[in-house]
Amino acid sequence: MQKLGIIGSGSMGNGIAQTAAQKGYDVVLVAHRQVSLEKAQKSITGSLQKRVDKGKMAVEDMNAALAKIDFTLEMDKVADCDIVIEAIAEIIEEKIKVFTKLEEICRPDAILATNTSSLSLTDIAAAMKDNTRLVGIHFFNPVPAMKLVEIVKTETVSEDVLAAAKAFAESLGKTTITAKDTPGFVVNYLQYPFRLNAMRMYGAGIASAEDIDTAAKLGLGHPMGPLELQDMVGLDITYNATKSIYEKTHEPWIQPPQILEDMVKAGKLGRKTGEGFYKYDK
Ligand code: 3HC
Repeated sequence: MQKLGIIGSGSMGNGIAQTAAQKGYDVVLVAHRQVSLEKAQKSITGSLQKRVDKGKMAVEDMNAALAKIDFTLEMDKVADCDIVIEAIAEIIEEKIKVFTKLEEICRPDAILATNTSSLSLTDIAAAMKDNTRLVGIHFFNPVPAMKLVEIVKTETVSEDVLAAAKAFAESLGKTTITAKDTPGFVVNYLQYPFRLNAMRMYGAGIASAEDIDTAAKLGLGHPMGPLELQDMVGLDITYNATKSIYEKTHEPWIQPPQILEDMVKAGKLGRKTGEGFYKYDK
């Protein structure tokens, strides 16, 4: 595989693009509007520049990685890609539209993957002409730093597609695990109850955000506390993901707490809006 298409230029799409470009892939990063495209260029350049400033990357390597990425608004440009990963917002109707179009424009042997963390691949595949083609390649935020990728398996995906997805993720230097297409897969099934409980504790006034995070870091050895992590990932992302899993399963462990819903409605989405569980200097 040489050429990767990415549909969606949010933090996950950008992170995947940066990681693949650093590994020498030709990348087509498709944004849905000009402002997102410009934000993606700025964000990936900024992330690489930080590595240069820290002395972890040569300027020439940064420029080479940036030159590997074609930032575009035209989805048709992924037509000759070997693999295409969808990383748009978690709205199933929109994802189905993307895969319907990808089935029309991509080569029949191209791997079609979704980075969804909360929607059912089985539901997406059911709307495709060929349900053996869709595979989950689920990255973690921040993509360049996180070493794991979950490969998600439906009942219908072909063994060849699964093996290709795994080989691709490993070529990015990631370790893979394989999970069945079930709500939350493995990582989010583990971490959502933890993060939602941190919010419930905070909402109930049991401890401050700082103390809850300190407890997780110093008492459990986590690299970040659940509330600071939440601010990094985005409260809207977690709200939409947990809500859609709850609506599908009605399992209490995944029910979004009231405080999360209230903060999302108030526009307190975390770092990206300047306030979540903490305040940030914009
Ligand atoms: N973008 C790109 N690279 C980044 C980065 C970012 N935002 N933040 C850190 N990095 C890289 C650094 O460049 C460095 O790389 P290097 O070792 O090759 O030089 C490496 O990560 C370590 O960074 P630092 O030494 O600066 O910082 P830390 O040691 O404090 O690690 C962290 C930062 C990796 C973010 C760590 O705090 C961590 O692992 N946090 C938890 C993150 C987590 O749990 N993510 C999962 C979120 S949930 C999710 O993604 C699910 C999905 O469905 C939404």
